[in-house]
Amino acid sequence: MILVTGATGNVGRGVVELLLAQGVKVRAVTRDPASGRIPEGAEVVTGDLLTDPAGLGDALHGVDAVFLNAAAFLHGTDGGAPAAAFLELARKRGVPRVVLLTSGTVQGGVPADQQSNVIGRMHRVVEEAVETSGLGWTLLRPGEFMANSLDWAPQIRATDVVRAPYGDARWAPVHERDIADVAVHVLTTDGHFGTTYELTGPETITYHERARLIGEVVGRPVRLEEITPDLARSAMVMGGVPAPVADTLLALNATGLERADEISPTVRKLTGRPGRTFAQWARENRAAFESRPPRPQDEDRTR
Ligand SMILES: NC(=O)c1ccc[n+]([C@@H]2O[C@H](COP(=O)([O-])OP(=O)(O)OC[C@H]3O[C@@H](n4cnc5c(N)ncnc54)[C@H](OP(=O)(O)O)[C@@H]3O)[C@@H](O)[C@H]2O)c1
Repeated sequence: MILVTGATGNVGRGVVELLLAQGVKVRAVTRDPASGRIPEGAEVVTGDLLTDPAGLGDALHGVDAVFLNAAAFLHGTDGGAPAAAFLELARKRGVPRVVLLTSGTVQGGVPADQQSNVIGRMHRVVEEAVETSGLGWTLLRPGEFMANSLDWAPQIRATDVVRAPYGDARWAPVHERDIADVAVHVLTTDGHFGTTYELTGPETITYHERARLIGEVVGRPVRLEEITPDLARSAMVMGGVPAPVADTLLALNATGLERADEISPTVRKLTGRPGRTFAQWARENRAAFESRPPRPQDEDRTR
């Protein structure tokens, strides 16, 4: 039995589906079981890791491994405390291993309180809780997810134009299903304790190129129109992103202008095949970018 947290998320849904396909029993955690976002076949557990980690105590009975998504612990200033409380319960229940989905923004070998940016710090406190938990642990540190481009979908559906800064920044985004493949490998095979895996996609690509590839998939020209970082920051903050997080994300994005992301060998090494490309991701997600059918009021106006 594997307990999967973040089971409704970009990565966790894939982890659940892949484990079930291998015949592994899955217990999937969500705060909102009514959302229906947990793949069929998993045992659904309702719980909140941040506000009530102890409430998940019963769900840890008979569990062989935990897939822990750090996302649950990023809301407050110190996610390390609830993470440690949850992991202590896991240790007491005899759970032997935990695989943490954390972030490539963490600077390796640097303690949480010395991380140079707030996103790295928030993830590193959770990593430190995992490393001191007494469980056999593995860290997965992915770079930017391809799924982030879904944020462009409303703009593309409405105007075929993406407004974003740093169009020429070059990164190697990783397909969320490749992260799930790696996670399942690490959850179900031995030899990964005490290991930190960095994950990227198989190629570097600019934001301009991503917009163009989405256009090819939907069959009409899509382009990225550069906006200033200040404008992007205002939009992020108005959308609810805390200002220090917005500043960090923009500063990180900008570094892709000067030096391209390094390609990590993890996906190929652990899955035996190259990572999925952005073009493949765009084809799989075409429906999100296709134009909406005309609304009834639009049709009325043409009469
Ligand atoms: N996006 C990127 O480019 C990127 C890059 C590197 C690392 N990461 C890291 O990857 C993680 C996000 O992974 P994702 O995209 O798969 O997730 P996601 O789609 O953002 O979904 C978040 C998941 O976390 C769960 N969750 C949130 N708060 C929770 C709480 N208090 N208790 C229990 N569960 C909670 C949600 O479950 P319910 O809503 O069902 O409760 C949901 O399944 C973050 O740590 C992020 O920093 C992201």
